[in-house]
Amino acid sequence: MTNRLDKKVALVTGAGRGIGAAVAQRLAASGCRVILTARSSDQLDRVREQIEACGGEALSIVADLTGDEDVEHLVQQAQTWGPVDFLINNAGWGKRASVVRADVADWDQTFRLNLRAPMLLAKLLLPAMIEKVAGAVINIGSVSGKRGEANGAAYSASKFGLIGFTQSLYEEVRENGIKVAVILPGFVDTPLIPPNKQLDRSKMIQADDIAHAVHYVLNSPSKCCPVEITIRQSFRHVVGGRSVRALFLTQKPQPFGQGFACLCVVKGKPKRRSRSDSLISTNRSAALSSRISTSASRVTRKMCPLLKFMFGNSE
Ligand SMILES: NC(=O)c1ccc[n+]([C@@H]2O[C@H](COP(=O)([O-])OP(=O)(O)OC[C@H]3O[C@@H](n4cnc5c(N)ncnc54)[C@H](OP(=O)(O)O)[C@@H]3O)[C@@H](O)[C@H]2O)c1
Repeated sequence: MTNRLDKKVALVTGAGRGIGAAVAQRLAASGCRVILTARSSDQLDRVREQIEACGGEALSIVADLTGDEDVEHLVQQAQTWGPVDFLINNAGWGKRASVVRADVADWDQTFRLNLRAPMLLAKLLLPAMIEKVAGAVINIGSVSGKRGEANGAAYSASKFGLIGFTQSLYEEVRENGIKVAVILPGFVDTPLIPPNKQLDRSKMIQADDIAHAVHYVLNSPSKCCPVEITIRQSFRHVVGGRSVRALFLTQKPQPFGQGFACLCVVKGKPKRRSRSDSLISTNRSAALSSRISTSASRVTRKMCPLLKFMFGNSE
């Protein structure tokens, strides 16, 4: 059987770590010649060396994709390896903040990196693919591109936009032998997710699981294209033996502070679970409430960074 990826040139953005590094490594292992790009040259070099140590071929090019000049320079440098066959738009970033408090400069950075750069790279690299009547553009989106969440407006909007871009581009080039796809991961165990000992990372989606989906799209039969793939984890996030998300979703809407306290009571006082749970809905006893809230606030303080992160982020 012929290997469809053999000697194909793949450009992977955000390839210095996390999902991008895993995609680059998997594609190199499948025979692709891989162009790695990100801002940190040391991280790129590490990935390049790992690929080369396994007998693969890689080229690293430093670029800040929020700048048009860097994007154009990247494309020029990449084409020294010949036409790019596969573009994997993976680099992404977002800063959590409410719409009211957000810095507009952060919105611009998010849109430029998560949406404008993928569009610009596609614009510059597609003509060669159209000429060859072959190729692929795969965008790494997010489940946040399907459902907005508080404090993630710019990130979510950029990922919604990436889905729209994917759908439009697919319609434009589907008959040119070019695959266009967006992959929507949930939480993935990468440096994007801050370390927290409460989080059982072994149950999270791994970066290579996303790389596997990229490989699947590239290897799919020539007469079909998996345009959109959502990847959710099998396990719910586990904090103290409980699913925080499941608990959160059973709460009545309430201010964040109270919501955190109620959840923490369940976590901190397992024996009182049924009573404290019912307290959340019926608000029965003021005395019990104050006892619980004392212990809750202790646990809340400990857990707040994780909870803030998780409730603010659907991934
Ligand atoms: N991890 C998750 O839970 C998760 C879930 C859903 C979707 N995603 C998406 O998956 C993609 C990869 O995420 P990840 O978790 O692998 O993130 P990560 O570990 O933070 O890696 C991000 C990569 O993008 C590069 N990058 C960041 N800003 C850049 C810029 N301005 N110009 C060029 N490169 C830049 C980073 O390198 P430098 O900093 O050196 O530039 C790094 O190589 C993102 O699009 C993200 O939105 C992640």
